[in-house]
Amino acid sequence: MTVASSAPREAFASRAGFILAAAGSAVGLGNMWRFPYQASEGGGAAFVLVYIGLTLVLGIPLMLAEFGIGRRGQLAPVGSLRKLAGPAWVPLGYLFVAVGLLILSYYSVIAGWTLRYGLEAVFLGFPADSAGHFAAVASGGDAVAFHVAFMALTVTIVIGGVKGGIERASLLLMPLLFLMVVGLALWAATLPGAGQGYLVYLMPEIDELLNPSVWRAAASQAFFSLSLGMGGMLTFASYLRRDQNLPESATVVAFTDFGVAFVAGLLVFPVIYSFALQDAVSASTVGALFIAVPSAFEAMGPLGRIIGLFFFVVLAVGALTSAISLLEVVTASVIDEFGLSRRRAALLTGAVITGLGVFPAFDIDALGLLDKIAGEFLLLAGGLALALLAGWRLRAAVSDELLAGASPRWQRQVPRILATLRFLVPPIVVAVLFFSLRETTAAVVAYFGR
Ligand code: TRP
Repeated sequence: MTVASSAPREAFASRAGFILAAAGSAVGLGNMWRFPYQASEGGGAAFVLVYIGLTLVLGIPLMLAEFGIGRRGQLAPVGSLRKLAGPAWVPLGYLFVAVGLLILSYYSVIAGWTLRYGLEAVFLGFPADSAGHFAAVASGGDAVAFHVAFMALTVTIVIGGVKGGIERASLLLMPLLFLMVVGLALWAATLPGAGQGYLVYLMPEIDELLNPSVWRAAASQAFFSLSLGMGGMLTFASYLRRDQNLPESATVVAFTDFGVAFVAGLLVFPVIYSFALQDAVSASTVGALFIAVPSAFEAMGPLGRIIGLFFFVVLAVGALTSAISLLEVVTASVIDEFGLSRRRAALLTGAVITGLGVFPAFDIDALGLLDKIAGEFLLLAGGLALALLAGWRLRAAVSDELLAGASPRWQRQVPRILATLRFLVPPIVVAVLFFSLRETTAAVVAYFGR
């Protein structure tokens, strides 16, 4: 029942616009915060190698499963799955909508912190007691206020539509973000003691290559960072015409995402080691970004305020282009399924997510728990379903869709991509899911037992 099917579907105006929007979805807090942290935990260069391998074997094929299904279906996940695979798959579409609601509800709280820190850099400077400051503002009424402000920005862009909102914002913000990240990394290279930071970040601990928990961490990181497993890329691809070279686009998006994550590590680690802040980092995952790095800016005086401003603007911009894609999955589903106008749908879904976000905004442990459940486990489960769907049930349609618009060179890769989706992706994701289920259950038990 696609009530709104009479109106022509919105579309991206340019091929670059789609690529930048998809890259905007991928590049976000996951790159700046989770990647460097996980690399340092998971054996430095060993983690980076595993991550690159999994990006090639899981990431790009799964992104193409989403691209293929989305462009074929020309509807948000619920509608595309119903149209292509039948009504039995509709619940999977609604699961994606639920995952979008959950992830954005806490993602926006973290993004709200970045807005706040950016504003503080301008008006107040960074506080001397960085850890105490974070503890004071990370949860409670302050966190709710900035979460609401960030959601308002996100809703405004999504109301602007695919071309006038999402594409326009991505074309403007993504080049800005690339320039600022590279600029900041170059600045970090000049810090005394930068070399030690690089060493800790990238020292290859080769025995970690055999550690299953490094593989699990790298796989979940790849899903989250590439925005896979909840129909985000599927939804963007539903706004494409058949002239887009999908295999090439997916490869460009995946390497852009990796590039930004890698460079973010070249920025964060020299700062941490130059200012001897490693203890603040190991204390918590958000510690690096919101405690250690700001205290370095504080120690640098006025220059620190300027650099710090750029740093938090980069984070906020990355978070915004990612949040857009999370909200778009939910909004587009409401538009497609219930025939609401884009404006109404975005306001309604934005309000629901803003309300949900009050919980993680008041309780940082709930935030961490939601990230484990929705940001890891449910994404892996969704990705497994999408791989099976694209590789088996919809194989002919997806293969046809990936060939359309691809140059001959990329067309030759299509059989290989489908074989990977059929035989390689499902067993790897099942194995990772097993470990993730154990960890997620333990996290749930720990949360409710506290
Ligand atoms: N990829 C984004 C990041 O790294 C977050 C994100 C946006 C996301 N859309 C998504 C994660 C969809 C999972 C699914 O910050």
